Amino acid sequence: MSNVPPVADHRPVWLDDKTKSIMDRAIAREQSLSRLLMTFIVTGLIFMLLPGTFLGVWNLIKISSRAAVESIAPAWIQAHGHAQLFGWVGTFILGIGFYSIPKLRKLKPFALWEGWLCWGLWVVGVASRWLSNIYPWHWRVLLPLSAALELVAFLIFFLAVASHRPPGGAPKPWEPWIFVVIAATLGLLASLALNLRASIQLALHATSPAFPHEFDQRYLIVSTWGFLVPMVWGFSSRWLPVFMGLRPLRNPLLLMAVGLNTVGVVAGFFERFTGAGVLLLAGAAMAVAAVRFFEPAAKPAKTVNVHESFPIFIRIAYGWLLIAGALGVWAARAGTAPGIWGASRHALTVGFIAAMIFSVGQRILPSFCGMHVLWSPRLMLAMLALLMTGCTLRVVSEILAYQDYAAWAWNVLPVSALLELTAVTLFAVNLIVTFLRPPVVVSAPLNRA
Ligand code: HEM
Repeated sequence: MSNVPPVADHRPVWLDDKTKSIMDRAIAREQSLSRLLMTFIVTGLIFMLLPGTFLGVWNLIKISSRAAVESIAPAWIQAHGHAQLFGWVGTFILGIGFYSIPKLRKLKPFALWEGWLCWGLWVVGVASRWLSNIYPWHWRVLLPLSAALELVAFLIFFLAVASHRPPGGAPKPWEPWIFVVIAATLGLLASLALNLRASIQLALHATSPAFPHEFDQRYLIVSTWGFLVPMVWGFSSRWLPVFMGLRPLRNPLLLMAVGLNTVGVVAGFFERFTGAGVLLLAGAAMAVAAVRFFEPAAKPAKTVNVHESFPIFIRIAYGWLLIAGALGVWAARAGTAPGIWGASRHALTVGFIAAMIFSVGQRILPSFCGMHVLWSPRLMLAMLALLMTGCTLRVVSEILAYQDYAAWAWNVLPVSALLELTAVTLFAVNLIVTFLRPPVVVSAPLNRA
């Protein structure tokens, strides 16, 4: 897919042969890494569109037409959730991690085959998990097998990006954002290990491939607040102060935020939902204060090649994070309240996670994937506006409809789903057209991260 011109065309003529050969190897390595990253990104987009969003929209339209949340098989809802969290966001994170972590940490390069092997095992694992939830064909074998493949793929990723030291030299000292990414990586490891254990138990003792509701609630806290949230905080604190021209990061607050979040996740996993909700909300507020999103910026934002509204949508996304936390506390106080739990989860997954990926992804991925420039910044604005409108309608009407506060809200839910579907489709189109267009620059590969 990468249409990068031959490397030899870009070497300055005055360089000696040894330097030229080092440059050639660096450029070839950069091109291979970009190709690996682009493969992860396109795979993630496919999971996002079909097994993830289309199934989510289908589920919501069915739920709304019957005005009953329990009218859908739990395995179908979980197939949608797993495809979004691991098939889309997880695949993006693995790809971006392979591309950027060794550069940011100045580590020795990993062997590329490790990246490709991880991709292959991860894709087969996530795809077979989706299939075993949708068509329970040999699910007793497929479900645990898919969970084992995902865990092995993660371990390959972890060993590849975490254990390579530069020859003879000490790695860069750990900056606070690295601790945040490590906390998120442990959250991912915990999610995958819990998934494997629960899948084996289901295969041995259950009659359906769906996790029991109580376990699913606790497991989702680990995989959303324990994995995705700190991962977004980690990369936010690394990149956004520069991209948005923010004031210097408050590092101690950031670490305290991660500490509160981690304790909140553990409390949630052990069903202390009210305490967990308060801790998660406090952690989110502290992370916002640490990165200083809502304080006046110190410098103008760097919005070249993206839409200039980029900083506004980042701030809205962090607003959704706080709303998700507050709704989580309300849901915990209300007890069995599927509408409030669902609204909190949707505020987090769509309002925060998806909006952050749409905003930051379109800022960094075109250049990481072979020095492209985003095809259409205007489309970026349109999709973010649609996503935020759909998310607002969904969160409000999910509470009103599922909690029996207002029957008319059932009619709003399908509208919200179609708005969000349009937004994610436009995101995929914008990125894919961007990748298909010729790159603008191919020199200086080592300075990019
Ligand atoms: C068009 C957009 C989307 C639609 C229409 C949609 C629809 C749904 C529906 C109907 C449910 C069932 C529970 C409920 O009603 O609250 C659900 C659950 C869920 N969704 Fe979505 N969703 C969308 C986007 C996303 C995104 C972007 C993510 C993650 C990044 C996500 C993650 C989840 C998760 C984790 C669950 C819970 C699954 C479980 O119970 O195990 N969804 N979604």
